Amino acid sequence: MEKVTYRVQRYDPDKDKKPRIQEFVIPFRHGMTVLDGLIYIKENVDNTLCFRSSCRMGICGSCGMFINNLPRLACHTPIEELKKDTITVKSLPNFPVVRDLVCDLTSLFAKHKSVKPYIIEPDMTEIEKPTGEFLQAQAQLEEFVQFAYCIKCGLCMAACPTLATDRHFLGPQPLTQAYRYSADRRDCGAKERFKMTDTPHGIWLCHLAGACSEVCPKGVDPAFGQQLLKRAMFSDSLRLRKKPVPPSVAKPPAEKKPRVAVPEFTIKKPNTKS
Ligand code: SF4
Ligand code: FES
Repeated sequence: MEKVTYRVQRYDPDKDKKPRIQEFVIPFRHGMTVLDGLIYIKENVDNTLCFRSSCRMGICGSCGMFINNLPRLACHTPIEELKKDTITVKSLPNFPVVRDLVCDLTSLFAKHKSVKPYIIEPDMTEIEKPTGEFLQAQAQLEEFVQFAYCIKCGLCMAACPTLATDRHFLGPQPLTQAYRYSADRRDCGAKERFKMTDTPHGIWLCHLAGACSEVCPKGVDPAFGQQLLKRAMFSDSLRLRKKPVPPSVAKPPAEKKPRVAVPEFTIKKPNTKS
């Protein structure tokens, strides 16, 4: 393949009533990502093309787009992987379009913020004058660490069929983060979060379609996170959930340290006997 055709969504709110598609045929080179092609178009063909990107390595979460009918990170999608010489790129569904491929992610960040995505310590004196460390053992971290890999790209929200029919549904990203922080043994805010997620637009609307986990580029598995949140809320309502230990007094379980053999001395003691 020497050329690749990009069918790119264009939308200028000052001129267009609705988004339209514009075609660009550009040279292809081995290893090129969808983002590389968009950068080529912007630098060589049409500098008015708008899209978001930053890290170019799947870390910042800013290049989420609808590529050949799936939400993907443009910088993390090699063109060869699509197995097509025509690529259709649009802005993410379930978010309003601002211009061309740029969508408005305000609702994602507002919903994320609404579930209090941080460790809650009720004792203000402890926050201002801590008496101990916020300890955490490896085993405790492993209870939720995969959910902490979220880069807030919004791909799961764009793939969610429930969100497509109810824009007020909290959605997979915020609900998974509600679980991530509630599962953290250092946190005392689970009950506050459960109140926020136990609403008509909350967790119970998730019917486990699983599309969110299919598209997540970081292996977070938000569909699983949401089921764990349901279980935690249900256990809490039956008073089966363990009471959290305040962070400052939390003690990690003793971890077995691997035995390391004491090395042989390599420098001989000087012979002090004369
Ligand atoms: S859960 Fe995955 S898809 Fe959703 S915002 Fe986080 S990293 Fe992106
Ligand atoms: S540019 Fe940062 S994730 Fe793609």
